[in-house]
Amino acid sequence: KMNAFIKTLMSKMTIDEKIGQLNLVTGGEATTGSSVSMDVEGKIKKGQVGGIFSLTTPARVRKAQEIAVQSRLKIPLIFGQDVIHGYKTTFPIPLGLACTWDLNLIERTARIAATEASADGINWTFSPMVDISRDPRWGRISEGNGEDTYLGSQIARAMVKGYQGTDLLSNNTLMACVKHFALYGAAESGRDYNTTDMSLDRMYNEYLPPYKAAVDAGAGSVMVSFNDINGVPATANKWLLSDVLRKQWGFNGFVVSDYTGVSELIEHGLGTLPEVSALSLKAGTDMDMVSEGFLTTLKKSYTEGKVSLQQIDNSCRLILEAKYKLGLFDDPFKYCSEERAKAEILTPANLKTARLAAAESFVLLKNDNNTLPLKKTGKVALIGPLGNTGSNMPGTWSVNADLKNTLSLLDGLKEVANNKVDISYTVGSNLLADAAYQQRATMFGRDLPRDNRSEEDMIKEAITAAKKADVVVAALGESSEMSGESSSRTDLQLPDVQQRLLAALLKTGKPVVLVLFTGRPLTLKWEQENIPAILNVWFGGTEAAHAIGDVLFGDVNPSGKLTTTFPQNVGQVPLYYSHKNTGRPLEDGKWFSKFRSNYLDVSNDPLYPFGFGLSYSNFSYGAIKLDKKTFKPGEAITASVTVTNTGTVAGKEVVQLYTRDMVGSSTRPVKELKGFQKISLKPGESREVSFRIQESDLKFYNANLKYVAEPGAFKVFIGTNSRDVQTADFTLL
Ligand code: IFM
Repeated sequence: KMNAFIKTLMSKMTIDEKIGQLNLVTGGEATTGSSVSMDVEGKIKKGQVGGIFSLTTPARVRKAQEIAVQSRLKIPLIFGQDVIHGYKTTFPIPLGLACTWDLNLIERTARIAATEASADGINWTFSPMVDISRDPRWGRISEGNGEDTYLGSQIARAMVKGYQGTDLLSNNTLMACVKHFALYGAAESGRDYNTTDMSLDRMYNEYLPPYKAAVDAGAGSVMVSFNDINGVPATANKWLLSDVLRKQWGFNGFVVSDYTGVSELIEHGLGTLPEVSALSLKAGTDMDMVSEGFLTTLKKSYTEGKVSLQQIDNSCRLILEAKYKLGLFDDPFKYCSEERAKAEILTPANLKTARLAAAESFVLLKNDNNTLPLKKTGKVALIGPLGNTGSNMPGTWSVNADLKNTLSLLDGLKEVANNKVDISYTVGSNLLADAAYQQRATMFGRDLPRDNRSEEDMIKEAITAAKKADVVVAALGESSEMSGESSSRTDLQLPDVQQRLLAALLKTGKPVVLVLFTGRPLTLKWEQENIPAILNVWFGGTEAAHAIGDVLFGDVNPSGKLTTTFPQNVGQVPLYYSHKNTGRPLEDGKWFSKFRSNYLDVSNDPLYPFGFGLSYSNFSYGAIKLDKKTFKPGEAITASVTVTNTGTVAGKEVVQLYTRDMVGSSTRPVKELKGFQKISLKPGESREVSFRIQESDLKFYNANLKYVAEPGAFKVFIGTNSRDVQTADFTLL
């Protein structure tokens, strides 16, 4: 039915109208490039627009759609938006949300985001962002799920399911757009938009699987990345977009460029606007976001024989199919209901999930002497530039967040403590010592004004406040804009002015809890050595303040586990748990050996390994039991451990399973995550946790890019993080 409908429609379309469908313009609510779309209404009238992004609310969307359906062929527009980690109800930044290791919860957050955004006029989200990144210098590491291929693939699938539901035709689902295809997270030196250069082995085994998982889960669209890949920018990369995406993976949705990704090919050095537009279309980019290279040059390129009608038709058909799948031809206004917008956005139920998701995303990095949880009595001195700002809570890419109603940590703590605790607030320091740097780090005006007093005066005031309290809660770290797009950093320490404040607070002798806001792994060696308790809270979204209170005061026991390695220093980057062994690995138990693969000045160890996170409970692991020592393809082996909560409070634990292929036709990682289970245990309770390992779990792309499992010896590891594990051996026959 769809094919016949679109065939008939396309038979009536002029080439101009077809090219018009390939044009995506911005409605201007969030602009992330130097160009902005002009005369949008005029262009819609002329049939020169296929879709708009960053235009919301039923009224505004209705108005634009009305113009579209009054144009000659009445083709409706598709409405996109960066609904990345929630809509008005925002959830933790994706890097934080991943630390919940709770796929159902993650799917639920995407479902809520879809419900809210679709109630506000949107039907297409530029999410999930599934770029693997192992470089915390890269600001957009905050928008992805971390360093791991397996976990990243599971989350990609969950997000697509959450957005698209089981029925894209329904009015409360969104079409997903998996991005940024591909390898955007491997930008050289962590500098945003920078070149990537990567072996096929690494691409196929480590970086591509999450995109493929999203495609396999039915994602309706794909966004091309800005970067160049082995010499060919993704937007014009035929191998990537046609051979891998279409032929190898069978993707049948449409491909959209990133913001001015087509015209940026001029800067990449690929030619003039007509040339790069033709190159992009021919490579497999169907829709041009904001450049208007397709709109203004493709017809001429067609008349000159530089692109074929079939290429234009093909892209046009894919975009019309997306609109058809969303049901827009039947009802172009199905997402424009004021009633729904009023009833379904920021509901108490959505906020409840946001509070839960935030609390589950926090990672307790250190807790000496049971400094946490805090008692709900006495005096707390909340100190730090991030303690009294609500607008900083949602984090990067939260363009629709309800900033006015997002509580500051100060207000959140007061509410959770319910007047039983005397909580004072002192700013203590600026975000950054350098005013110009602070300005760059707060560009979108998120409520972090500079204090013009001297650093000494501010610290003095903070010390006075600390001395009056029983405990100091230091709210420090990054502003929300210190991570995210175009927010790369080369120094990953806590800003020095904040570090000096922290050291001064510590000197008062009061117990100090560091509540760390960050969009990336930071280098926290001094903090780990000196501060008794560190709770990493990322950017937790609309309900972050309540959730931080829930965890600090012990109403919720923290259970988040890192999905990116925290290095000791920036020189170790990239540092990730699933590295290769090398021919000269360091011997166990040593941190330096001459002529081994290591550094002179720092051990190879991370500060906090992948999968790490503490709890107010303690969990002990028994030895691994295997039901057999060998197994054949077609069979499975079961690995079990008994996990016991040896603490005094109930808690959740993410039990992690890793394998290692001991001998391969290519070098294999020293550990690869292959399974996990998040369990809840009461104090004293034990549970046997079992994992089935099948041949398919042991497959990888060999040197000929064949996906194979090679017989031989394997190790299996089960534990509380990637470092602290039990080990056993088995053989695949
Ligand atoms: O979706 C985003 C992308 O992640 C970065 N460039 C702009 C796009 C649209 O806002």
